[in-house]
Formats: sequence, structure tokens, C-alpha cells
Amino acid sequence: MRKGTGMPGEHDEPSHHGIDDSVSESVLNETLRILLTRSSCRSFENRVIPDEVLNQILEAGTRAATGGNLQPYSIICVRKQETKQRLAELNEDQSFIATAPVDLIFCLDWRRLGRWAALEKAPFTANRSFRHFWISFQDTIITAQTICTAADALGLGSCYVGTIIDHLREHRSLLQLPDGVFPVVLLALGYPKFRPATKKKLGPSYIVHDEVYRDASDADLRGMYEAKYPGWKKEPTPERLEEILQVCRRVGGESLAQECRERIEQKGYISIAQNYFGLHYRADLMPLSNEEYLNLMKEFGFGWFEKYVSPEV
Ligand SMILES: Cc1cc2nc3c(=O)[nH]c(=O)nc-3n(C[C@H](O)[C@H](O)[C@H](O)COP(=O)(O)O)c2cc1C
Repeated sequence: MRKGTGMPGEHDEPSHHGIDDSVSESVLNETLRILLTRSSCRSFENRVIPDEVLNQILEAGTRAATGGNLQPYSIICVRKQETKQRLAELNEDQSFIATAPVDLIFCLDWRRLGRWAALEKAPFTANRSFRHFWISFQDTIITAQTICTAADALGLGSCYVGTIIDHLREHRSLLQLPDGVFPVVLLALGYPKFRPATKKKLGPSYIVHDEVYRDASDADLRGMYEAKYPGWKKEPTPERLEEILQVCRRVGGESLAQECRERIEQKGYISIAQNYFGLHYRADLMPLSNEEYLNLMKEFGFGWFEKYVSPEV
């Protein structure tokens, strides 16, 4: 199963995610234009990113907000072809990782702060605390997205790669990550061969709730996703049908399998929701790796999910 956070076949443009041509040319300013028209880029020119450009982008990232201004992250900047090639292999052979001139790997990093605390004889349990973990994850992503936007502003393109959390031990050894440092996401960066089309999104009318949360009606819910993925269909070949019904059986028993079959027969195709959770991010398999990830977190020096017992009572 391909577990990547991209979708099959989307490495080439256009992706099936739906093209959005609704953004007006008369947006308020340059920053907003960048934000409103951005898209992931997976096709890069064979052109080096000058140091002054890269440094500015990285500097912008380190300016981002972090909980308590602690900056509990590190960024591994990879430019060596050999390493990028290996990263591509470890990440489902997503070839753009190797063709991008720079890959940035964003990592949670409690090691640096833990060492600082130790030097200063300060008490330190951040790597054992869920709250610290939760905030540091947000800090890391906010920094990554700041870098992403800064890159767009300087004419670069980028694409996140979430599969970095597969083959964690191999990534750890390749990047020489010590205890307390955990990779979160990779960002492939370079000059775009072309500007990929902006994808359709659920807009504020669906995403933003006025004062309190309100469920959309079933009809509105269907409508919003139909508008996001207009005309999306997948042929229900016998193999696909067998696979999706098997997933349904495992997750919701025979009754869900029966309902899923009826829906596919009624429509004549596999819908995108069925594809997302029945074939791509398989609902029966995704939660199976939970324990393995927790074990890996522990192996990497993060114990926030375990009961904390104070050594000195
Ligand atoms: C956390 C995260 C992980 C992602 N991982 C991948 C990936 O492994 N491969 C890929 O091609 N795209 C990946 N993407 C990019 C998404 O596929 C992309 O953002 C989505 O299709 C929407 O397209 P857009 O960014 O052009 O709007 C990832 C995006 C995020 C935010």
C-alpha cells in the first residue's frame, strides 16, 4: 500500500485533486496572491538555489512563532545528490525528492534544549511530556510552512513529503539523528519547471463556523465534496471491488461491505471518499502501525505516552 500523503499519479500535473481557477487576479497584495495561488511543486529545474536565497528562506523560518519561543526543532538541509537519492528511495521512490536541489527535513528536537538545560543544571522532562510534544509538533510545522511561503515568495516551488515517517530507522541513520530528534516532514525545494495549477479547496463557507460548530446537512456535505472533486470516478474493476469490500468487512463488518457494494453498483463507480479510505489510505491498515510508531518514538528518546514517575519522591 502506498501510504504517502500525496495521491497516486499526482507527481505529474495536473493532479486529479481538481484545478481551481477561481482566484481573482485582483487580490489585495502580493503576499495574498502567493497564498491564494500556491500549489505543491514536484518538478524542478536543474538549477542550484543560491546560498543567499536559501539563507533568507531559512532565516524567515526561524522567525516563526513557537510556544514559549523555545524553537524545539532542527532542520536538516540536504544538498548532496547521493543523500537525496537515498531519501527518494526511502520515500516510495518519489523521484522529485532526488531532482529537487534541496531537501529540508524538519525534526522535533528536544535534544538541544535538553543539553542546554543539563549544562545549566536546570530540571528537564520535556521529552516525557505530551504537552511539550504537542506544542513542539506545531512549532515544527509552523516553521516548515513559513519556509514554504518564503520560498514561494522568492520564486521557488516546494512539496511536502509525509512518508518520512516510514523507514524511520533508515532515515535516522542516514541523517545521523541522535536521541531526542524525530523527523516530522520533508520539504523538497527548487526552481519550478512550471507553476502547477492551484487545486480546488473547501473554502471558508464550509470550513469556518460562525461562533460555534455546526454540522453541515448531509446534502451540503455531499455537495461540498462534489464541488471539490468534480466528476471524480474510479472504475470498479473486480480486483478493486474485492479489495474495498474486504477493507469494509474488516472495519465495519458484512453490513458495511454490503452497503458499500450497493453504493458502487448504484453509482457505477468507486467514489473519491471510497477511494481515499478504502483503497489509498486503507482504513483497515492505517491504525495497525500505531503501536510501532509509539515504540519508535520511545526508541528515538520520546516517552510522552508513558506514565511519568518522578525518580525522586
Ligand atoms: C503533511 C503533508 C505531507 C505530504 N506528503 C506528500 C507526499 O509524500 N508526496 C506528495 O507528492 N505530496 C505530498 N504532500 C502534498 C499534498 O499532496 C498536496 O498538498 C495536496 O495534494 C494539495 O495540493 P496543493 O498543495 O497543490 O494544494 C503532502 C502535504 C502535506 C501537507
